[in-house]
Amino acid sequence: MFSTAFLDVPPLTSAGGTVFLPGSKSISNRVLLLSALSQGSTTLHGLLESDDTRVMLGALRQLGCEVRQTGSTVEIDGLAGRLPHPKGEGTCSLFMGNAGTAIRPLTAALAVLGGDFELRGVARMHERPIGDLVDALRQLGCQIDYLGQAGFPPLHIGHATLKLDKPIRVRGDVSSQFLTSLLIALPLVAQKSIVIEVLGELISRPYIQITLKLLERFGVVVKREGWQRFTIAADSQFKSPGALQIEADASSASYFIALGTIAADHRNKIRIEGVGADSIQGDIRFIEAAQKMGAQVESGSSWLEVSRGSWPLKAIDLDCNHIPDAAMTLAVLALYAKGSSTLRNIASWRVKETDRLTAMACELRKLGATVEEGADFIRITPPASPDHWRAASIHTYDDHRMAMCFALAAFNPAGLPVRIEDPGCVAKTFPDYFEALFSVVQALPHAIPVICMDGPSASGKGTLAAALAKALGYHLLDSGSLYRITALAAVQAGLTLDSLQEQTIAALATKLKIEFDQNLVRLDGVDVTAAIRSEEAGMNASKVAAMPQVRLALLNLQRGFRQLPGLVADGRDMGTVVFSDAPLKVFLTASAEQRAQRRHKQLISNGISATLPSLRADLQARDARDSARSVAPLKPAQDAKLLDNSDLSIEKSLALVLHWWQGKQPFGAI
Ligand code: C5P
Repeated sequence: MFSTAFLDVPPLTSAGGTVFLPGSKSISNRVLLLSALSQGSTTLHGLLESDDTRVMLGALRQLGCEVRQTGSTVEIDGLAGRLPHPKGEGTCSLFMGNAGTAIRPLTAALAVLGGDFELRGVARMHERPIGDLVDALRQLGCQIDYLGQAGFPPLHIGHATLKLDKPIRVRGDVSSQFLTSLLIALPLVAQKSIVIEVLGELISRPYIQITLKLLERFGVVVKREGWQRFTIAADSQFKSPGALQIEADASSASYFIALGTIAADHRNKIRIEGVGADSIQGDIRFIEAAQKMGAQVESGSSWLEVSRGSWPLKAIDLDCNHIPDAAMTLAVLALYAKGSSTLRNIASWRVKETDRLTAMACELRKLGATVEEGADFIRITPPASPDHWRAASIHTYDDHRMAMCFALAAFNPAGLPVRIEDPGCVAKTFPDYFEALFSVVQALPHAIPVICMDGPSASGKGTLAAALAKALGYHLLDSGSLYRITALAAVQAGLTLDSLQEQTIAALATKLKIEFDQNLVRLDGVDVTAAIRSEEAGMNASKVAAMPQVRLALLNLQRGFRQLPGLVADGRDMGTVVFSDAPLKVFLTASAEQRAQRRHKQLISNGISATLPSLRADLQARDARDSARSVAPLKPAQDAKLLDNSDLSIEKSLALVLHWWQGKQPFGAI
């Protein structure tokens, strides 16, 4: 997950491959509760791991439900519609965080079953209305009291005396979640058939469809007359379906459907696992819109395959009321269409995570598009030619969907990168979005940025390179460790580190099985992190590093680290040999005295004893060998920036290098 201040997405050229998407949020929390209320055990596969589902799982456990979780698979022993006495005496207090999809159906279920419960949340939850649901539940005899402001959580739920002979009325024009909550709760007490009547125009109907379809999977059929009247049959009971695969999130799928539409060849499509065209989620109808614009889409029961059909894409004029979230992705697809596209009936964009209409118009304009913004529509005309595209730093307004859809602007014909500010905001629904994206897109090799950080031993380049990689969300190559590992492998194989063994050591270097896992380094599955860090290992590394054939053997391995979104490479010849086309090369030095002291401190803090004079002598010997060798001697690249950090803190050095890097970007200052 990227939690950097910004993420620069390099210009992208093509896409192809398979993505596995996180589970649907709407389905996840509904089926958790339904499983808990059912008779029998249910195994749920593909559960979304998010704040909302964690809140629901916590509450179910507190209510006495047995829950066993392994990653995204959860096994729940249902309570068969009865609540065991919660552990301990007195009121059972449930913490709901800010999870609207948890508090509403739980309130309804607990209220009809009755008991002694308190439901609370974070401050923001106490500002989110629940009055219409409480009114509906009170009508049928539920005992609910507001503990704070009337109409809002926190709530107390007591014992109910139910009167179910008259239809229950609920408003449908504020949130469809109130109706969903009643539909999930009332089968628990349907000794006789129960009628629910909706007051006002029912909004978000696709979400009610999801509820009805899931109720059916749990054995409860609801008769629907239009969108006004719903009848729950007498003697309804929830029965576990055994196992249930939760569909992947259809709104998340829209970015990858769009990706295939823009950039996948029919021989190498984008395959999306976990959701098919027959999905019960409303946003799946994004497919139809993408097809209108030119997408080729094939589908199976839980997969989609998408590739480019027509190009440029065809402009559309579409009422998007049925796919409000996924329609944001259409706005970015419109950048690749011939002519102007109009997305209509999207007034709801104004009241989402941010005012999405204004935000979208503003950021699309930054890219060079012409945008007309109406009260409930947006019209987008792409930049007239590649010359009219602009490199933009996209503000994301703490809105996950802004970040996700604008990354797709990196396919612009001008070959410009796109900066996404606050990329971590995708965590709301898709924490690994950028990782998933980078796993199925390609860029021209030279378009993937590399920052080289070369310099002598103990100059601080390892620390600075790691800090830089962290700040930019880039990969890190510690090339010294490859020489250290090669030397270790050679010693373990009983080889002497002299030129007679050069060929054998080089052959060994091409076959190394190395894994970098967080801060651990493994050779042939064995942890060698500590073994390669000793001073002796450094000396040995410098010996094998002087062998031309060994250097050649490690060249491709090092170049393989140049992956999206970018790389910081630390070593001796990163700028001169391995990544000679890198846009920024830094040569880091510090006085011999400073370097010996730093190394001394480092060793002592790792519990390794060493003396300053011997360290200084070792470093000088190593530098001398590194500088004198015939291939790739240690020296700054011609176009390197020299940085003597003898008197600089790591923060200051980092700020300086970031400043140099910003100066090379087309976005201007941050
Ligand atoms: O950077 P580190 O101290 O881990 O490197 C160990 C040795 O590996 C260096 O002294 C140098 O001889 C060699 N090396 C190299 N080229 C690189 C990185 C390290 O020759 N790019």
